Parts: sequence; C-alpha cells; structure tokens
Amino acid sequence: MPLATCLFKDPSYGMVYQIHTPNTCNPLTMMWALSILASLLLIGITRWVYRWRNPKCNGTLPPGSMAFPLLGETLQFLKPNITSDIPPFIKDRTRKYGPIFKTSLFGQPVIVSTDAELNYFVFQQEGQLFQSSYPDTFVRIFGRQNLSTLHGFMYKYLKNMVLTLVGHEGLKKMLPEIEQVARRKLGLWSTQNSIELKDATARMIFDFTAKKLISHDPEKSSENLRENFDAFIRGLISLPLDIPGTAYHKCLKGRERAMQMLKNMLKERRENPRKNPSDFYDYVIEELQKEGTILTEAIALDLMFVLIFASFETTSLALTLAIKFLSDYPSVLKRLTEEHEAILRNREDPDSGLTWEEYRSMTYTFQFINETARLANIAPVLFRKALKDYHFKGYTIPAGWGLIICPPAVHLNPDTYEDPLIFNPSRWEGLETSNASKHFMAFGGGMRLCVGADFAKMQMAVFLHCLTTKYSLQEIGGGDTIRSPGLQFPNGYHIQLASKETA
Ligand code: HEM
Ligand SMILES: *[C@@H]1O[C@H](CO)[C@@H](O)[C@H](O)[C@H]1NC(C)=O
Ligand SMILES: *[C@@H]1O[C@H](CO)[C@@H](O)[C@H](O)[C@H]1NC(C)=O
Ligand SMILES: *[C@@H]1O[C@H](CO)[C@@H](O)[C@H](O)[C@H]1NC(C)=O
Ligand SMILES: *[C@@H]1O[C@H](CO)[C@@H](O)[C@H](O)[C@H]1NC(C)=O
Ligand SMILES: *[C@@H]1O[C@H](CO)[C@@H](O)[C@H](O)[C@H]1NC(C)=O
Repeated sequence: MPLATCLFKDPSYGMVYQIHTPNTCNPLTMMWALSILASLLLIGITRWVYRWRNPKCNGTLPPGSMAFPLLGETLQFLKPNITSDIPPFIKDRTRKYGPIFKTSLFGQPVIVSTDAELNYFVFQQEGQLFQSSYPDTFVRIFGRQNLSTLHGFMYKYLKNMVLTLVGHEGLKKMLPEIEQVARRKLGLWSTQNSIELKDATARMIFDFTAKKLISHDPEKSSENLRENFDAFIRGLISLPLDIPGTAYHKCLKGRERAMQMLKNMLKERRENPRKNPSDFYDYVIEELQKEGTILTEAIALDLMFVLIFASFETTSLALTLAIKFLSDYPSVLKRLTEEHEAILRNREDPDSGLTWEEYRSMTYTFQFINETARLANIAPVLFRKALKDYHFKGYTIPAGWGLIICPPAVHLNPDTYEDPLIFNPSRWEGLETSNASKHFMAFGGGMRLCVGADFAKMQMAVFLHCLTTKYSLQEIGGGDTIRSPGLQFPNGYHIQLASKETA
C-alpha cells in the first residue's frame, strides 16, 4: 500500500488532522502532497525518458541510442582521443548501426550521416529540405542575430559584403600584404631559439585579419581582443554548463568582452568618421548609413565577431598541421621547396614580390593544401536541420531533427582515398575533376561553402612560399595532436627556424 493511503487509514492520525486548522501547515498534508508530487514527477520523468528514447516518427527512424534526455551522448561525443582517424564516437556507431544513425547531442535529437550521397544531397537542399542550424547552445554563443542560421535575402546580402573583402578582387589586392606579413614574421621567428608555431601563426593571422576588418592594433589597445577570442574558442564545443569556472562560462564571457570591444570601436568610429575608408568597418559603417538599409548595428557586430572567429583559429590550425607534415614527410618538403624555388628562379628580380600569376601557378602547393585540409578535418561536424520529413534508404529523417554531417568519415573513407591516413599530396593529381565536392568537404559544401576558403588557402600558400624558399626548420617539441573531436595541439608545436642563406 502506498505510504500516503496507509497514514490516512490510521484513526489516530485522523485525530491529529482534526486538531489542526486546515490553514496551518500540517506536516501530514504536506507529506501527502509531497508524495503525490513525487509520484507525478516520477511518472512524468519516466514518460519523458520513454518519449525521448522512443521519439514519434512517421516512418522508420535510423537505429541508434538516444541515451538520456538533455545530455544524450554528448559526453561520449566530446571525449578526447589521439587518433586522426574517423572519430571513435562515429566509427563505433557506424560499425554497429550503419552509415546513418540517430543519437542525441547538445540537448537535441540528431541523425548522423556518414553517407556521401546523403551529405551531398543535404548540401544541395540548403533552405529547402534542410538548413544550416546549430544547437541552441551554439546560437547563444554566436549571438542574437544567429548569423549561422541566416537565410535567404539577408544571408546573400551579408555574404556579398564579406566577398568584397575576401573575394577574387579583394585577394588580389591582399596578396602583397600577406606576403609582407609572412616575411616579417618569419624573419623575426628565425632569430629565436624556439617558436611555438600554433600560437605564433594564430597571432599572425589574427592580427592580420583584425587589421583588415577593424584596423585593430594590439599594441595600441588596452584590452587584449585575442585573449577574449581565445577564451571563446576554448569553450566552443564543450558541455553547455553556464557555471563560473566551466569552459562554457568562460566562452560566453569571452564573447561578451570581445563584443563590447567591437561595440566601443564601432561607436568611436561612427563618431569620428575617417576621410579615406580603409578597412571593413568603414565599409560596414557606410552600409549602415545608407537609406533603407537592412543592416543593423547588432547584425554588423555579430558579423564582425563571426568573421574574426572563423578566420584565425581554423587557418592557424591548418597551417601548423601543414608544417608538421612537412617535417614528417621530407620528400614532400623537397617537392614543395622545388616548386617555390622555381618561382624565384623564373623571375627577373628574385626579391620582387609574388605576383597573382605566380600564386596561381603553385600546383603542388594546392594539392598539398587540399591534402592537409583532408587530414586536418578542422570542422569535425557540420550541423543542419530537417525542415520536412525526408525519406532516405528506408529511413525517415523527421522534420525538426538535427542532421550532422561528418566530414572526417568522408575524408578518411578507404573506398575514396587509398590508405586514407597517409599524407600524400600527389593523390590529388587525378582527383581534380572526379566528383570532388562529394568526397571533399573540408570547407563545407553547397550554398554554405566557406566564404573564406580562398583567403585561407592564400594565407597558407604564401606562408609556405616564404618558409620553404628562405628557411629550414627543426622540430624541438610538442606537435602531438588530440581531437575532442576538434583538432588541438595540447603541447603546442615548438620548432626552430634557420635561415638557408647563412646555413
Ligand atoms: C583552413 C581554414 C578554414 C576552414 C577549414 C574552414 C571551414 C569552414 C566550413 C567547413 C564551413 C561550413 C560550415 C557549415 O557548413 O555549417 C565554413 C563556413 C564559413 N567560413 Fe570558413 N574555414 C576556414 C577559414 C575561413 C576564413 C579565413 C574565413 C574568413 C573570412 C572563414 C569564414 C567563414 C564564414 C563566414 C562561414 C559561414 C559561411 C556560411 O554560413 O555560408 N573561414 N568554414
Ligand atoms: C504519415 O504517414 C501516413 C501514411 O504513411 C500519411 O498518410 C500521412 O500523411 C503522414 N503524415 C505526415 C504528417 O507526414
Ligand atoms: C581512442 O580510440 C581508439 C580507437 O577507436 C580506442 O581504442 C581507444 O580506447 C580510444 N582512447 C581513448 C582514450 O578513448
Ligand atoms: C535568431 O533566433 C531567434 C530564436 O532562436 C529567432 O527568433 C530569430 O528570428 C533569429 N534571428 C535571425 C536573424 O535569424
Ligand atoms: C582541391 O579541392 C577542391 C575542392 O574539391 C578542388 O576543386 C580542387 O581542384 C583541388 N585542388 C587540387 C590541386 O587538386
Ligand atoms: C560522379 O558520381 C556519380 C554518382 O556517384 C557517377 O555516376 C559519376 O560518374 C561520377 N562522375 C565522375 C566524373 O566521376
């Protein structure tokens, strides 16, 4: 018999009840109410867990485990591992369930796809059957205007704004500046006994991008913009617990501070307009002042934030890994060096800067960069959302569910790439025309293809040009990588540079 009923059948307890006026807080009524509440809660939770684990679906859901509500399999997903193969979370589950399975991550039911055909289809269906959509915790991180979830007209408008900076014409203009920065930095680093490459390249790229976007000068600024971004990035893919001390909390704080800095700069700039527009901020301010503009200050600030964020961590990770590969594969280094030395040899004045034509001629370098991007898997997962029920190979992807595309599963598939874990830039020689976008998605795909891909490639190629023509490098320490599931260098990568001329 349940406890509450038992107590009420006992006459002596009934007496107690009589003595007290009903308005005072009777311990018995309280207990009774509490136990009913507890049972209701238990029933509620059981139903909740049951519903969570057996979601409604008009069709057949793919196999897989939903685990428990909210947390789902998030912890397993985030578990660090040193392997550069397909993340164990994905690999184990594809082995068990097949290339399409269901799970729950970051509080959301999701379907994970490692199926090249489905991935390709999802990219092509952007805004129709599927759309880019990051979990709520990410949206909170990326701000009110949720740029990552922007669609339609506004999205095209912002993309065009970004392309004025990093589109074809913008890059042509930037080439000499990128070369200058790379030369100067390499010269400086070669005078030091040891240089931590991950941090050094992040600093170089951050300073360059921040200068192009907002004319940020770290030496003249009282607060360190990059530190705020660092805190932001470290907590980006972490458990969304907003409690002081957690990475997630620091991430939100970092964003808050960085946004405040950007806001102050925008305010100052609007109050003191400059005569010669010179950076992206000037352009944004011009747009803001146009009559009938759809750009708001809040959107502009979010855009700046996303651009700075998207540009420096990704490219510096890729560049650091690229140089690690150079050190690990001497024959690749040799071939890359030959390509760049030939560029200098074929010029009248070896000290004149890189031309656009020379840049375009770096065939092996681009194969090298593709191969680096394939193995780096800087974006371990891409998030989408199903807008309508979609049926694929006997399974249903229900409307409203998340869909996760896993580029590493595509990039490390032995059916497409022979010996997928071997670094071999020459494999790209024949691959250029064969369904490349289905099997290569380091920069995403479809409409949402990374707008900064060419910018990132240019920064890498130019840096490699300056490095291989003038310096030799020696590993000193670090260089080990972990993935959780994003690529990290937990101990950095310490190298020493020596000028070839003095060697
Ligand atoms: C090696 C370096 C880089 C890698 C691996 C990379 C990777 C990616 C990937 C995979 C996406 C697609 C995300 C999705 O589909 O949900 C993306 C989007 C984006 N990237 Fe990059 N990126 C890199 C560098 C850059 C740079 C330098 C910029 C700066 C301009 C940039 C700006 C963006 C922006 C604005 C988007 C959003 C585009 C959209 O939603 O349409 N990225 N990037
Ligand atoms: C669910 O499936 C049934 C039968 O397959 C179909 O008649 C119905 O329209 C579907 N409902 C939705 C909301 O898709
Ligand atoms: C890393 O992944 C490998 C292969 O999937 C697995 O055997 C190993 O236990 C994992 N290590 C950790 C620390 O999870
Ligand atoms: C951003 O997300 C919120 C809530 O998720 C939504 O109400 C708002 O319309 C979104 N904004 C844009 C610009 O997509
Ligand atoms: C690198 O990959 C891209 C995207 O698939 C492809 O278009 C390009 O041709 C590749 N470059 C080389 C040199 O193979
Ligand atoms: C591209 O893929 C499709 C289907 O997967 C195939 O029919 C076609 O022949 C491929 N094209 C090339 C050029 O490999």
